[in-house]
Amino acid sequence: MATDTAVSTAEPRTGTDSPIRLAVILGSTRDGRFGPKVAGWFARRAALRSDMSVDVVDLAETPLPTALTHRPGPEERAALEAVTPRLDAADAFAVVTPEYNHSYPAALKNAIDWHYTQWQAKPVGFVSYGGISGGLRAVEHLRPVFAEVHAVTVRDTVSFHNAGGLFEPDGELKDPEGPDTATGVMLDQLVWWARALRTARTTHPYGT
Ligand SMILES: Cc1cc2nc3c(=O)[nH]c(=O)nc-3n(C[C@H](O)[C@H](O)[C@H](O)COP(=O)(O)O)c2cc1C
Repeated sequence: MATDTAVSTAEPRTGTDSPIRLAVILGSTRDGRFGPKVAGWFARRAALRSDMSVDVVDLAETPLPTALTHRPGPEERAALEAVTPRLDAADAFAVVTPEYNHSYPAALKNAIDWHYTQWQAKPVGFVSYGGISGGLRAVEHLRPVFAEVHAVTVRDTVSFHNAGGLFEPDGELKDPEGPDTATGVMLDQLVWWARALRTARTTHPYGT
């Protein structure tokens, strides 16, 4: 795990109001990417809360095969082993995505497509960044994709417009007030849905 996205995680309990397990998925994988700054900042904020534990799944550090197959061989299984159990364990997801040509990275789509039950009946929030758009067009492309795998996307997002100029070299924000507020709103929604859906999945296993 990259230093600036490393976050300590507490072992969650399992009652209705117990902390949720949040998987923060970093979707940008290219050399020289800006994504770890954004994901690191967000994960550190999330980890301050007592109602969640945080696991950062960096798709650059856990690369998945690009050829989807229904019969994964040993290599595919080894790669999936670094990601799938962590998605399985999550009660909620925060997807950190840049915007590339008005959409989201191919590596992120690949990670979504390799999985199915791991997303089902779980909430997804978005942290986006990019140029003037703040990655919002990438988010709107992700919503129908997550609907297809039976996930629930929350309304509010955290978005960074012209993100390169917003962060200090140490990864902190020059002006954190707005993003702090947006993060609180989005995480409150994720926690509400995560608890409700965790209870519902326990009472009535989804899709059966
Ligand atoms: C191939 C490519 C396409 C891009 N297209 C857009 C775009 O459509 N809209 C936008 O606001 N920014 C766009 N950008 C800017 C990126 O969102 C911005 O550089 C971001 O920091 C990239 O994230 P990363 O460094 O983590 O990969 C693009 C960047 C690249 C490399």
